[in-house]
Amino acid sequence: MKAIVVTDQAAGTAGMKLVEWPEPQAAINDVVVQVHASGFVPTELAWPSTWTDRLDCDRTPSIPGHELAGVVTALGYGTTGLSVGQRVFGLADWYRDGTLAEYVAVEARNLAPLPGDVDFTLGASLPISGLTAWQGLFQHGRLHAGQSVLAHGAAGAVGTMVTQLAREAGAYVIGTGRAADRRMVLDFGAQEFVDLENDALEDVGKVDLVFDVIGGDVQKRSAGLIRVGGRLVTVVGPAETRPANGLAVDFVVESDRAQLSEIVQRVRDGRLRTNIGIVSTLDDAVAAFNPTERRKGKTIVRVRP
Ligand SMILES: NC(=O)c1ccc[n+]([C@@H]2O[C@H](COP(=O)([O-])OP(=O)(O)OC[C@H]3O[C@@H](n4cnc5c(N)ncnc54)[C@H](OP(=O)(O)O)[C@@H]3O)[C@@H](O)[C@H]2O)c1
Repeated sequence: MKAIVVTDQAAGTAGMKLVEWPEPQAAINDVVVQVHASGFVPTELAWPSTWTDRLDCDRTPSIPGHELAGVVTALGYGTTGLSVGQRVFGLADWYRDGTLAEYVAVEARNLAPLPGDVDFTLGASLPISGLTAWQGLFQHGRLHAGQSVLAHGAAGAVGTMVTQLAREAGAYVIGTGRAADRRMVLDFGAQEFVDLENDALEDVGKVDLVFDVIGGDVQKRSAGLIRVGGRLVTVVGPAETRPANGLAVDFVVESDRAQLSEIVQRVRDGRLRTNIGIVSTLDDAVAAFNPTERRKGKTIVRVRP
């Protein structure tokens, strides 16, 4: 099969190579999926799991990409819940070869059925950003109607989902980003926009929940904005500054079939939109992941036309 591999962490996305690679085998409780579309988060190449297995042993060359939409072609020993020929989407294991390939082996529990009226490209854009937003808001953030959310990076893949899901849940959403992102953040439903490069974040006042995807100084300053009993939820590592009278939670997204189904249902009925930028072929993917100018939206690789 064709696959994109990485061998050298220092080389970043420029070190990605399109190669011929053996097809994966289905282990216990796995399925093999013929990948139709694949999503890739650029920061993956900084994650230890891209380079080592769970015992911290080198696993390069490794295939990046953890989001997929495709069709099941084989079942592993004991696999239940999915069948050959079924359309699926979901999240591949961080420590195994990923989805920038024609086939991938994934634990069946990490996938959900992809309804026939949802395109594979759309399906592949949902798992990481959708599940991260869902889990950050509702599991770790315990968001409820009437609360306020400061959604950082609200024009990004996670931020656009955070904004839409929080609004649907009845929250007041203040989105942040760069000056050029104002229109997009408001279009995705934020009631206010804070330009992190020119506005004073502190003018926002107190909020119930900060959803942080940026870290550093932005995260530090946000801790002081959290209302008594509120939460700082972050996906970029443990908070260095914790809210004085609230909780800080950092987490790594997990796959969840029921949540994937909730998310895709919202896409079907128009409650949720994704922020897809360009759609590339597998042959052109390395160039697509090495853009020469700033790009808006998520790059999706359409592995099968
Ligand atoms: N722990 C987890 O489970 C988990 C899950 C998903 C994502 N993540 C992490 O979350 C982060 C965001 O992911 P994503 O896919 O949403 O990325 P993304 O699509 O690039 O979105 C990030 C957004 O934040 C903006 N931004 C970043 N730094 C900024 C700054 N200093 N001032 C103003 N705007 C800024 C970006 O603008 P520019 O594009 O102009 O920089 C972009 O619009 C990544 O680090 C990713 O690895 C973690």
